[in-house]
Formats: sequence, C-alpha cells, structure tokens
Amino acid sequence: MTTDTPNDGSPSRALLADLFPGARLIIAANRSPFRRTYGLRGEERWERPAGGVTAALDPLLRQTGGLWVAAESGAPQELKVPPEDPSYEVAVLGVPEEVYRGYYTGYSNSGLWPLCHNLVERAHFRSSDWVAYRQVNRQFAARIAAEARPGDLIWVHDYQLALVPGYLRQFGVTGPIAFFWHIPWPPTVVLRLVPERKMLLQGLLEADWIGFQTEESVDAFTSAARRELGVRIQRSARGVTLLYQGHRTHVASVPISIDVQKVEELARAEHTQRLLPELRQRWQLKEDSVLLLGVDRLDYTKGIPERLDGFSRLLSRYPSLRRKAHFLQIAVPTRTEISDYRRLAVSVRRKAAAINRRFGEPGWQPVRLIEHNLRLDRLVVLYRLADVAVVSSLYDGLNLVAKEYVAARVDGDGCLCLSETAGAYHELRSAFPLSPLSPERIAESMARAIFASPHERRERMQALREAVRRNTVDTWLSRILAGVRGSVDGQLSGVNETPV
Ligand code: G6P
Repeated sequence: MTTDTPNDGSPSRALLADLFPGARLIIAANRSPFRRTYGLRGEERWERPAGGVTAALDPLLRQTGGLWVAAESGAPQELKVPPEDPSYEVAVLGVPEEVYRGYYTGYSNSGLWPLCHNLVERAHFRSSDWVAYRQVNRQFAARIAAEARPGDLIWVHDYQLALVPGYLRQFGVTGPIAFFWHIPWPPTVVLRLVPERKMLLQGLLEADWIGFQTEESVDAFTSAARRELGVRIQRSARGVTLLYQGHRTHVASVPISIDVQKVEELARAEHTQRLLPELRQRWQLKEDSVLLLGVDRLDYTKGIPERLDGFSRLLSRYPSLRRKAHFLQIAVPTRTEISDYRRLAVSVRRKAAAINRRFGEPGWQPVRLIEHNLRLDRLVVLYRLADVAVVSSLYDGLNLVAKEYVAARVDGDGCLCLSETAGAYHELRSAFPLSPLSPERIAESMARAIFASPHERRERMQALREAVRRNTVDTWLSRILAGVRGSVDGQLSGVNETPV
C-alpha cells in the first residue's frame, strides 16, 4: 500500500510532455504522500501514509515532477519529496482544526465514504460539515488557481474534493481539469440520501474528464447526472460525454494500477530472497504450513471481521488444517477519530484473540495481527511468503493489494481469494471468487485456494499476472492523459445521443 523507492524510468514524463507540451502536473488529493514530523531532538522524521491514492500517485509524480496539493489540520507545510531524492513538491494546506474535522472526519468520512460504499446506515450528513467541506474545497481551488499557469494540467482526486473543479472555474481557471473518483459511485437511489448531491454533481461536471474504477460506476454517475441535473448524454465508440450548461465532460472507466515493474524488482531483490527463510523460521512456518495473508487499512469496508469469521469456519470445517494454517493480518489504523473505526479495531482484536483461544496450541497461534503500516519492500516479502492472499472487501473502489500480490508472485505461484464486490475483480477474474458477507463462503473460497492443485494455482496465477501486466500505472496514466486531451480538444463528442 505504500512505496518508497525512487523510480528512474520516465515514460510518464515523456507522455505528459507529448500530450500537454510545457504543462506542469498539479495534483489535488486530500492526503499528502509524505508527512514530516520532528523527533524529540528536533530531527526530521518522515511518515508515508497508507491508502490506494497515495500508493498509485506517488510513483507517477516521481516520474513527471510537479506539485501535489494536500490538506491537514494545523499549520501549512511546503515539502520537497521524496526526502531521499526530491523530484516533486507537496503543498500541504493548513486547515483550522474544527473546519478540518467537519470536512474530513464529518462530511468526507462519516458521510460520503460509507454512503458510496452503500453502507447507508453508517452515513450521517450534517449541515455544519457541509459548510466545512465547501470551505476546504474552496481553499484547495484558491491555492491551485494561484499556482497554475495557462496550459498546466490540473488533476483532482476523490470524494473529499468533489467541489474543486467548480471552484477552479469560478476562480477563472480555463485550462484542462481531470478528476478521478477512486471509490465506488453509488446507485442513484443511494445517492439521493445525500442532501447536497446536486451541488456535488455540478462541481464535478466542471471537469473536462472524470475517471472511475469500473463501468458500473460510470453508468451510475451518468444516470445520476441525467436524473438529478438533466444533463444530455452522448455516447460514441470512444465513450460517454455529458453536456451540462454549455460544458462537456467525458466520463470513462479507467481502473487504477500499480508500478508493476517496481514490485517485480522488489520481489526478485536479494534482500527479499534472504528474508524469506528468516521469516519462515521466525513464524515457525513448516514445510506443510499454509500462510494466509490480509493487508488492509483497518476500515469497515474491508470486511476484516467477516474474514476472520471465515477463517474460524475454515478451521472448524477442516481439522486437517489445524496446526498448519496461519492467518497474518496487517491492519493499518486509519481514521481513528471516528467511533466506527475505533469499534472496528476492538472487534478485530477480539475476534483474533477468540480464534487463538479456541484453536491455538503450543507452537501454533492461528491468527497474527500486525497493526501498523509496512513499507512496500516489506510487504513484498510477505506477498512472496503467503500461499493465499485474501481480499474480502464488502465494497472497494478497486483494491491495489490484490494487484500488488499478483505482481509480487514472480515465481508464478500463490493464490488470490478476491471479493466479487471489489473493483479489481473485473480485471482479476481468475482469482478464487469470494462472497464477503458469508463466513461459510469465505471459508469455501479459502479452502478452494488451499487445496487447489499446483497446476490450477499456476494457471490462475499466470492469467492474473497477464491481467496485471496489461494495465500498469503507466497504462493507467496514458489512458487518462489521452482521455483528457481528447476531451479538451472536443474530439470525443459522440454521434448518437441516447438516454441511459
Ligand atoms: C482510500 C481513499 C483515499 C484515502 C485513503 C486513505 O483509498 O480512496 O482517498 O486517502 O483511503 O484514507 P485516509 O482517510 O487516511 O486518507
């Protein structure tokens, strides 16, 4: 989920220069890819937050250079990153604590996040949070408008910043604006629970191009724009164009990806090979042991308690796996200001402890929980070690862990159990499918993977690796840049206008 080694290749830089000559790439995304703090003796410390957006965009900006605008509660910061070999800049906007709480903890993560994941009962919308959300989105736009030269490419990310394109236009920005929505776009009937949905849609539709992870999200967004705002829709072989108040916005499904080459290099690296036997020994993994692995932010959308219930079911149903199966769960704390997240952490710890009490024996602890973020090079070692990776999200925009696991399996072995409701499932159909709300089905999926023949494992992994290699982070960027270019040039307007 994180990356921290510089990337020397620069195909993305060349592509940017080709399609947008002279442009600087300006990214707006709430979370900064780096945090600088100071130790007791005033020494600099750097943290690298977890999450799909920073994991995907940091390697890109290392190649293209440019500016990343982020926000935090407290004082502003100007950073040159990565600290070991700076290649781009980060401007962290300082937001007063209470405003940040309304914008981030409130509207973004207690409202839009659960709602877009269709977990409507967890969603709350408060007017004061909306005021804060608007204020911070405006602050982002003001900073970018002050920085951007004509022709620069502005690329805004995710649900925290839906109003930024609209504010940018209000501040007089006429240049290209792209937007990528990283999480699922909900069905219209669910979106209607958002009191301010029309303003969110209007803000987004000021972008020239909007990308989503799946066709389902494109369809849901298009349908919402038509039903809520009456936008006109043009479809052509090259995609969908929405026409609203004289502005056209192209929308497309362009699933995000990872730096496949980097992950493969790390997987083959000498230190990875060296660590594999060391870890096997440290965790008492024997020849016939089976290691299952989960890597997630500790978020209720990831289905971690359900996954542990599934593992417990697996141990009851298959006594032959006792003393053999180990579940390693990396659960990175996140959004701990929100009580749902704190409760989740308690429930995951309790479930892990209950399984260990029920099944554990001297020399065998079935579940091991690691509650902190790991650097990509460390994760890759775990990916290489794990016989089965389990991604059981209830809903997930995409899920980059699934792709990282596959990319790390340069040995062609390993099994991926993947939730049918994760965006990544559309590309990774050769995974062992998993139905995330049923402990029996989860156990079944794990068992299918564990007991699969070496031939089946290899065949599936080969197909998965081909899929991951077909769409790398460079492919992702090139499709987006081409889409924005085409949209800005007005080349994408379709011929047939059909209702959705
Ligand atoms: C998901 C969201 C990102 C977010 C990340 C981490 O991947 O799509 O926008 O940055 O989670 O969450 P956090 O709230 O810590 O930034």
